[in-house]
Amino acid sequence: MAETVEVLIIDENNDTRQSLKEMLGANPGIEVIGEARDGKEALNRLSIISPSIVVMSVSEEVSESIKDLEAIVLRYPTVGVIVLSQHRDWYYVRQYMRAGAKDYLYMPVTQDILIATIEDVYRMDKEIHRRNSEAFRMGQDVHPVKIVSFVSSKGGVGRTTLAVNTAVALAASGKKTVLADFDLQSGVVSLCLNLKPSRTLTDLVHEMVEIDPDLLERYLSSHESGLRVLPAPRHPEEMELIRPADIRVVLQSLQKNYDFIVIDTSAVINDLLLTILELSNDILLVTTPSLPALHNNRELMNLMIELNYNTAKVHQIVNRATLKHGVTVKDVADTFSTDIYWQLDDDAGLVERAANEGIPFVTSAQRHRLARQIQDLAHRLQEQSAPETTGKPAAPKLKKRHRQ
Ligand SMILES: Nc1ncnc2c1ncn2[C@@H]1O[C@H](COP(=O)(O)OP(=O)(O)OP(=O)(O)O)[C@@H](O)[C@H]1O
Ligand SMILES: [Mg+2]
Repeated sequence: MAETVEVLIIDENNDTRQSLKEMLGANPGIEVIGEARDGKEALNRLSIISPSIVVMSVSEEVSESIKDLEAIVLRYPTVGVIVLSQHRDWYYVRQYMRAGAKDYLYMPVTQDILIATIEDVYRMDKEIHRRNSEAFRMGQDVHPVKIVSFVSSKGGVGRTTLAVNTAVALAASGKKTVLADFDLQSGVVSLCLNLKPSRTLTDLVHEMVEIDPDLLERYLSSHESGLRVLPAPRHPEEMELIRPADIRVVLQSLQKNYDFIVIDTSAVINDLLLTILELSNDILLVTTPSLPALHNNRELMNLMIELNYNTAKVHQIVNRATLKHGVTVKDVADTFSTDIYWQLDDDAGLVERAANEGIPFVTSAQRHRLARQIQDLAHRLQEQSAPETTGKPAAPKLKKRHRQ
């Protein structure tokens, strides 16, 4: 191998770390550029150094190790992580692979196998990267999909109402649209559309080892508008079974068949939400004219800036903008130092009736002002070309905190 593959080793034991280092040091094509005792230390090191490969010895604490692995994969998706483990059970292998490991080796590992695995993972990653960039450059094989997520770190602001109606408006206008209910704990998209799904996201994630875009269709429910729906888990406890890495794979797979992927989210800030934010082209940050909503969403924006997310793809939405609660639409714009992308009227009667009947108002009451505002929002989303999902943010400067 002409190039040097730079590696970070994670192992809690000094001696094992040293012997792994010696093993790899014997190969001129590999350079160990960093060491860490655990995932936390590794994340600190990764903020300074940029290895291509992480060799991660996992501990007996499987759930902790999986969390560490996911944190690394989510924050540094271009790094190939190879897991070294004592567990020979397929159950563990699958858990680590689903969390984003590129390979899984049993300990003790021989020098030849470890080096060959590092070289293979490095070569494959490089090839995938090369093909992706080429396809992008030539405009080939890349379906111009838009992932639009409705987000807020304050509950009850209207994410579900807006996601459902916007998705139906997109589908009704002829765009191939899927609505993914990623509010894993209390998703109600199926209820809002009067659907009785036979399969949910939980079934999808657990029945399919490798997600195939065509097989995935069987897990979607159909709405009469033409919209396809990926329903949230039926029971809140199933939330534990779905990992950010699953959501990443599902979204990547859905991209192949759809023009729009609309996502409804939970107000809880966790790795899952961060994954959705990372993968979305348009993040519609929904705020109502109320101080708690403004405060929570500003905190979420601050977090995105801290994590170096591309905040240029965040659009400010003011829902129930005609409510008079002391906070005005201008206050929202001032807080985020940006224009308001879209604002929607307050119409409790229309929204509640539609939710109770399971019929989206965007089709059942097309002439209502709120329905027209949603249709226009759907048009605006179609007009704009998809912003990059990744890349450095053009971070807006946030204004001083509002008085609480
Ligand atoms: N434009 C609107 N006008 C009037 N009421 C609205 C509007 N949008 C949403 N609502 C009402 O606000 C409440 C919350 O709406 P919704 O469930 O869509 O919000 P959410 O952000 O998804 O909440 P949750 O945190 O429960 O997921 C509902 O009672 C809904 O009827
Ligand atoms: Mg909701």
